[in-house]
Amino acid sequence: MTENTRTIEQVGVIGLGTMGAGIVEVFAKAGLAVVAVDGTTELAERGRGFLEKSTGKQVQRGRMTEADQAELLGRVTFTAELRDLAAADLVVEAVPERLDIKREIFGTLDGIVSDQAILASNTSSLSLTEIAAGTKHPHRVVGMHFFNPAPVLKLVEVITTILTDDDVVTSVRDLATQMGKKPVVVGDRAGFVANALLITYLARAIRTYETGHVTREDLDAAGRVGIGLPMGPLTLCDLIGLDVAKEVCGVLYNATHDPSAAPPALLEQMVAAGRLGRKTGQGFYDYGEQADDGSPAGDVVTADSVEALATALSGDGVTVELHQGGDNGRLAEVVRTAAADQATIDRARASLLAAEVTPVVGRDRAGRVRDALLLPHLNDAVKMLDSGYASAEDIDTAMTAGCGYPRGPLQIIDDLGADRVLEGLRAMAAETGEPALHPSPLLVEHAAAGRPFRG
Ligand code: CAA
Repeated sequence: MTENTRTIEQVGVIGLGTMGAGIVEVFAKAGLAVVAVDGTTELAERGRGFLEKSTGKQVQRGRMTEADQAELLGRVTFTAELRDLAAADLVVEAVPERLDIKREIFGTLDGIVSDQAILASNTSSLSLTEIAAGTKHPHRVVGMHFFNPAPVLKLVEVITTILTDDDVVTSVRDLATQMGKKPVVVGDRAGFVANALLITYLARAIRTYETGHVTREDLDAAGRVGIGLPMGPLTLCDLIGLDVAKEVCGVLYNATHDPSAAPPALLEQMVAAGRLGRKTGQGFYDYGEQADDGSPAGDVVTADSVEALATALSGDGVTVELHQGGDNGRLAEVVRTAAADQATIDRARASLLAAEVTPVVGRDRAGRVRDALLLPHLNDAVKMLDSGYASAEDIDTAMTAGCGYPRGPLQIIDDLGADRVLEGLRAMAAETGEPALHPSPLLVEHAAAGRPFRG
């Protein structure tokens, strides 16, 4: 440990939902004694069940021995009593995203923990400064924002406010590093780094889906195969929880008035209907039913090379455009104009699948499906860099360590070429007239200078 840090040996976690239970696992794995608290004995026991199940899976996969699992579980005390946190050096709350609940908890903790204890919030959408300002010792309040699944993803956004003591920030950052996590320290801005970029990207994806121009499976394939991300955007929304996504959209929109971040109507309707994603069994996908593999039957055309196949399949109002292959395979955009008939599209889809190329059927629009997802997201990352909120390295770390990206957005721009990204954005901005698609001036500068963002 570096100087000017506080000793953290016993930690508390309040709220044992998906995130809280994952955070307990992270601390217990790092060898810390954990007091895990939820509102009732039943909820605390449910939290124990989550931890047993998650570690049990790791035992089954041979990633942990039964003895290690027993030792890990032995480090955690489950309770419904906040006063059991009296000896904690650090308490992380992961209760529902309501300022009144968080403030009440922190206020109660003021009377329980020692004056030296650090109070951290896992909030993904509320203002840390507002949470801190409601407590007796705001200088010890800090954000410790984990990513779902917390035991897997390495990012911890450490959020400071203008009130936070430096040694509190250093202590939390060092602890995260010791636990094998990647901390990124940033100020208190709506969505911090990762959510500001990710949730805006997801909101755009939902709006694309709303147009009916592309199926959910194809949209997800554009993200997974076309960009190389671990999950497509709609699958990821279902993992995060549509209520959480909507909440973060609202916070981002209120802070920025950027229409790209506004909660899409479909998202609002799904939340109102109680379709919150995996946790309720239904979201963009239905987790109780067999997934549709999106591959309608059709006559298969074969060719010696994929390039020749793409040419053979083009015609009758349809063009097939191939992307470069990546870790998750190769994507082809099947571009459908008003002159196309369904049989031609079905044939193109079936032939591409037979050639092990993932087809994405979309309309004849600038950016097609893949670039319409990717380029505005890259532009947002450059805008964030230009605003001075986070460095290029921190932005890339946030997206690789927090969302499983194989490369961060600024590295992706360097790999694609800033000039190509710029050209794509300009075409999309010209076609749609959307102000949010106008390229960041910093992107224009880098394209003109031929200068990479990383490197
Ligand atoms: N708990 C513990 N371990 C888990 C886990 C969980 N909930 N889920 C998966 N794992 C482990 C698995 O056991 C497996 O471990 P081994 O390799 O040691 O066997 C490993 O993670 C990979 O899991 P899988 O093979 O089952 O699945 P995968 O390779 O498809 O990865 C994924 C699954 C980690 C979820 C991956 O798809 C991913 O990273 N997706 C992106 C998720 C993302 O972007 N999260 C951020 C959301 S935003 C957020 O959380 C912040 C907010 O405020 C909204």
